[in-house]
Amino acid sequence: MTGLLQLLLLVSMSVASEPSCPACSKYDYEEKVLERMVRMEFAFEKVLKENKDVSKTVEQDLTRIKEENERLHATIDALKDQQEQAERRLVSLMEEVERNQSSTLEKIVSDSNTTLEQTITAFNDLKDQIATPLVYFHARSPQRTALSTGEVIVYKTIDTNQGNGYSSTSGKFTAPVRGLFLLLMHTCITLQNFDFLQIVKEGSVLTGTSNYDQNYHTCSSSQVIVQLDGGETIWVQCSNGGSDRQLYDHAHYWNSFGGVLIHN
Ligand SMILES: *[C@@H]1O[C@H](CO)[C@@H](O)[C@H](O)[C@H]1NC(C)=O
Ligand SMILES: *[C@@H]1O[C@H](CO)[C@@H](O)[C@H](O)[C@H]1NC(C)=O
Repeated sequence: MTGLLQLLLLVSMSVASEPSCPACSKYDYEEKVLERMVRMEFAFEKVLKENKDVSKTVEQDLTRIKEENERLHATIDALKDQQEQAERRLVSLMEEVERNQSSTLEKIVSDSNTTLEQTITAFNDLKDQIATPLVYFHARSPQRTALSTGEVIVYKTIDTNQGNGYSSTSGKFTAPVRGLFLLLMHTCITLQNFDFLQIVKEGSVLTGTSNYDQNYHTCSSSQVIVQLDGGETIWVQCSNGGSDRQLYDHAHYWNSFGGVLIHN
């Protein structure tokens, strides 16, 4: 642009100075014109060269800008990649935290469940230990009404036998568990007869009866509270037999033997 302006200035200057020498010859004039043209050509070449230089500089600048632009783009792309990677890492970290939290929660729940179940088991064991099992029996009607010394009375009719402690074969009660027992016997005798009966634990007498029936069927009851170990036996036996010893066992005048576990 600057070069073009200089050229135009040069041309207008040379045209303006043409009629300054009216007396000069045609040859002289032409020579001057030629000279000017040569100068103009030089100037023109100079301008062209300057133009070329300028455009070369511009080209170099453009190339630099282009390269700079590409570098900038590459940097932006790299930053974008880094950001995406960071985002992905953050998301997966958050997912892991969530997973960890829920697995921690599951562990807490399962641990408390285990603890609870252990507690329940321990509690039930304790309850079983503390609870008094149901043990009781009642049997009546002796196999024999006649009585001989040392005879075990075998009550043959079992009314109830919770815990299966009483045997209607032997007439003996065997404690299924250790505990405090209440035992009882009921005795009725025939007119003008005697009875001498005892409640015996493993051979030791706990209590006894002694009755004589003068006018009608006399009955009596005996009770005893005793601590028994599991497996210990207890029974009713005659301590003094004979021909005038006879039990009466009719209607509701039952001879019976019973017991109940009060506490273990
Ligand atoms: C998740 O749990 C694992 C195993 O306990 C552990 O190694 C990891 O650091 C935890 N992650 C986070 C994010 O807490
Ligand atoms: C413990 O978990 C089991 C199975 O997951 C379940 O059947 C049981 O009821 C739970 N126990 C308690 C005490 O919640």
